[in-house]
Amino acid sequence: MRRSSTFNTGRIDHLIEGGHDFDFRRGDLNDTNCLVSVLNEVQPDEIYNLAAQSHVKVSFETPVYSFETAAVGALKLFDAVRCLGAGARIYQACSSEMFGAAPAPQNEGTPFLPRSPYAAAKIAAYHLAVNYRDAYGMWIANGILFNHESPRRGETFVTRKITRALARIKLGIQDRLVLGNLYSRRDWGYAPEYVRAMWLMLQQEAPNDFVIATGQSHSVKEFVEAAFEYAGMRLEWEGEGLRERGIERSSGRSVVEVDARYMRPTEVEFLLGDAGKARRKLGWTHRTDFEELVAKMVDADVRRESMLLHGTRAYNEQWRTHI
Ligand code: GDD
Repeated sequence: MRRSSTFNTGRIDHLIEGGHDFDFRRGDLNDTNCLVSVLNEVQPDEIYNLAAQSHVKVSFETPVYSFETAAVGALKLFDAVRCLGAGARIYQACSSEMFGAAPAPQNEGTPFLPRSPYAAAKIAAYHLAVNYRDAYGMWIANGILFNHESPRRGETFVTRKITRALARIKLGIQDRLVLGNLYSRRDWGYAPEYVRAMWLMLQQEAPNDFVIATGQSHSVKEFVEAAFEYAGMRLEWEGEGLRERGIERSSGRSVVEVDARYMRPTEVEFLLGDAGKARRKLGWTHRTDFEELVAKMVDADVRRESMLLHGTRAYNEQWRTHI
């Protein structure tokens, strides 16, 4: 029987897998007693630390909470495992945000130049992982994942915000999509493939650090254009800066607008990952390209929003009960 614990979004969601039984319990990662009792009870072979306040813009508004979950939370986990002599393998979720202003392409050797409290906290956790590895021989792998998306992405992250708004505009229940910086570039991949990379990291002989990325970068504006085009709505752009807008060609309606409210005090302009090390050592490579990812997310949101519009029972069956 393999036991794994997943620490997610500032909470502990742990899973004991035995035969057909799944036992879910919850607790708070920042509550050390709770952490220790979960570790004692589960005795996990593998721990996946995904816990964080993970929204970069929100980390400017809640810097202390963001730092406590992402950095101090990781430290509490590493130290609890050390004190208990638990010997579990730990996956530490780092982030491409750590590269910040460093020139692209970014890989494991690229310096960290953080541009947000969230990124600074993730860098602290990264260095603590390396230190606990060196000082105590603990088995901790840092996964430096570039943006990974799916139809289950939170609605306030830009990809999902775009595909959900697009679906609602298409169905006539929303007028427009309002965004911040249209020109930042991200290396967007498909989340399930990235979770497989996390698992692969813990199956290696020795702990190591890996960048996981597609090696392709697109701007937010390109994501918007690809999504609208896939849904059969051609956009034409006019204006600049805060006056820039996307006009739907067939109706002449302004459907994409810009608002300073969604801009960040400091932005990460250009992320493009080089996952060569993961390819060589883990045999990992991405499979889903940008266009397929956009199509999956648009299809799912159009389906989901239609269900919501036409009847909640179908929606609940498809989504709520499976989340
Ligand atoms: N969220 C959001 N909302 N972002 C917007 C918007 C908007 O209305 N308009 C433009 N953007 C831009 C942001 O300024 C940023 O440059 C880009 O879209 C992506 O923003 P997010 O989707 O919020 O993701 P992120 O890149 O900041 O961070 C995500 O990826 C990291 C991995 O690199 C998060 O999942 C992090 O937790 C993760 O570590």
